[in-house]
Formats: sequence, structure tokens, C-alpha cells
Amino acid sequence: MITIALSKGRIFTETMPILNKLGISCEEDPEISRKLVFRTNKKNIQLIIVRASDVPTYVEWGGADMGIAGKDVLDEFQGKGLFQPLDLGIGKCQLMVAARKEFDYEGSIKQKTRLRVATKYPQAAREFFSNKGIHIDVIKLYGSMELAPIVGMSDLIVDLVSSGKTLEANNLKAFEKISEISSRLIINQAALKIKREQLKTLIENFTKVAL
Ligand code: PRP
Repeated sequence: MITIALSKGRIFTETMPILNKLGISCEEDPEISRKLVFRTNKKNIQLIIVRASDVPTYVEWGGADMGIAGKDVLDEFQGKGLFQPLDLGIGKCQLMVAARKEFDYEGSIKQKTRLRVATKYPQAAREFFSNKGIHIDVIKLYGSMELAPIVGMSDLIVDLVSSGKTLEANNLKAFEKISEISSRLIINQAALKIKREQLKTLIENFTKVAL
């Protein structure tokens, strides 16, 4: 049995057509169902639905043989033992620094002002600002980062931007890009040895349809 870990939302919506192209379809719609494990039309493949940030953990610890995770999540992940054979080119967005429209971002950077940054991505934020020689205080949040500068809790946010609508709706502006994000296939290293043939075929098939 091959277990594939996915998360609901953006990545899931773009993963399902890829799975369908591979001839894999789910017995129920995981976006609607409250179940966490889903059988597919392939007897030897099942899907599990976990939080996006937990996908690498499930794959690292063997709860899943394979998963699909955003580069944003993978960059924050401290674990080891993941094989990343393929960028699927889905879930594309950018990791950006944003603030209230009227915030003097350039001035603050020039003067190397110490800044408060609210984010779900502390590693990426620290690395980015440390390369600029700027000290930041990280306020770790788990969602709705856009709120932090509005209520005066932070100067900046580091968050994913896709259409830009969330920033616009909250009177925020993206000031600088940190990185381009897309979703990647990740594989458990031990499973790669034990279930070599099945996984090799699956990776090859993913590669064909992702290109
Ligand atoms: C992401 C991100 C922004 C939003 C940006 O949140 O955190 O809030 O999408 O998208 P946009 O530029 O198209 O408006 P997501 O919906 O993934 O949920 P999250 O808050 O759980 O991260």
C-alpha cells in the first residue's frame, strides 16, 4: 500500500487533476468529507488529509510514503529524511514582505530599524532580514497574518501572496519578494527502499504529467 499525504485547499485543488491524469480517483470528495483516510480506485493507493504544515512530518515519520507540500512549508521544516524528486509546478505563489500601504519600508530598511514581523514562516523571515543586516522580532502566527499590522501588533508580515486580493482587501502592500513558491513531491527515504518499484513507477508517472 502506498499512502499519499495531501492538505486541503489550494494544493489539493491542483493535485486532484494530476492524480486523475494518473488514473487515480478518490472514492469520496475529501474537500467535503470529514474522513481523514480515503481509498482510491487503485487498491494499493490511499490518500490521507493532514494540515499543510504537517505533510512533511507525516512523510518523514512514515505515516505517509509520499506527500505534496509547498516550498514554503518545506523551507520551514526542520526534519530530515525527505527525498524531493520533483517540483510539480502547482500551488504557485510568492513569499512576500508586506505592510500597511503607508509604511515607509524603504526608509526603515535604509536606516536598519529594528522591525516586528508577524509570520507563519519564522525561518524564512529571519534569514531574509539577517542577510540585510536587519534585526527583527518575530511574532509567530498560524494564519490571518494580515491582521497583525492593521491592529498595530507588527510593522511587517511575511506571507504568501497569490492574487494579491487579501493584501488589497486589508489595505496592505507587498514591498519585497522573498522567494517563488511551488509545490513539490516528497518521499519517505525508507519507503523508497522498501517499496522501490511502486514508488519509482509513481514518481515517473508524476514526472510525465507534471511536465
Ligand atoms: C494564503 C495567505 C494569504 C492568502 C493570499 O492563505 O496566507 O492570506 O492566501 O492569497 P491571495 O494573494 O490570492 O489573496 P491561505 O488561504 O492559504 O490560508 P492560511 O491563512 O491558512 O495560510
